[in-house]
Amino acid sequence: MERLDKFLSDCGAGTRSQVKIILKNGRVTVDGKPEREGSRKIDPDTQSVHLDGELLNRRGRVVVMLNKPAGFVTATEDKNDKTVMQLLPAEYGHLELRPVGRLDKATEGLLLFTNDGDLLHRLISPKKEVPKLYYAKHEGAATEEDVKAFAEGITLGDGTKCLPAILQPVGPGESLVTVCEGKYHQVRRMLASRSLPVTYLERRQEGKLMLGDLPRGQIRELTEAEISALLEV
Ligand code: URA
Repeated sequence: MERLDKFLSDCGAGTRSQVKIILKNGRVTVDGKPEREGSRKIDPDTQSVHLDGELLNRRGRVVVMLNKPAGFVTATEDKNDKTVMQLLPAEYGHLELRPVGRLDKATEGLLLFTNDGDLLHRLISPKKEVPKLYYAKHEGAATEEDVKAFAEGITLGDGTKCLPAILQPVGPGESLVTVCEGKYHQVRRMLASRSLPVTYLERRQEGKLMLGDLPRGQIRELTEAEISALLEV
């Protein structure tokens, strides 16, 4: 347990005297209730402190990479399915992490989470969609014509036009696919449109960031250098 005013200044809310005024002005809530008393004791690991509606934490910006297993939906809550939030260790519970984009329930691999709203929007903005590399197992064998069709931009069954993408066959019924946008079930639908229905899909890379040997179901935090590299794309 520690004093609220000390916690606020540690989080960069201001100097001790600025924090006093911030508290007096009713800009701080603890677990959703306004708190004006700097000497109030709080537990930052289990209680949430907001300043002007923004969650405060000593950690600042946090970006976490998960190797998502199949069977989890990318949502913060779901009535029927397990969500990717359940895969985050308890110590991340108070950071208000949100998934960056989404992977289908059956898709495995690289999924990012962050508590930084600006970063989240920059990463999923259609204007600056970072290239994402997928490994797919599919029925049939991809041909040179399929590769060309991807490079020209696939038109999906419902008429949706996709941006040019890269299809690299790597074995019979196995391909790498790179796309720069995130339409619903995009990679599955692109391959299906070429009569190559997907039986397995894993995201392996976003921009320069690789899934590497992170075990399935495990997370790791990104370094500041990795976060900057993500934004450079
Ligand atoms: N494309 C898909 O079809 N599914 C995903 O989860 C991601 C990309």
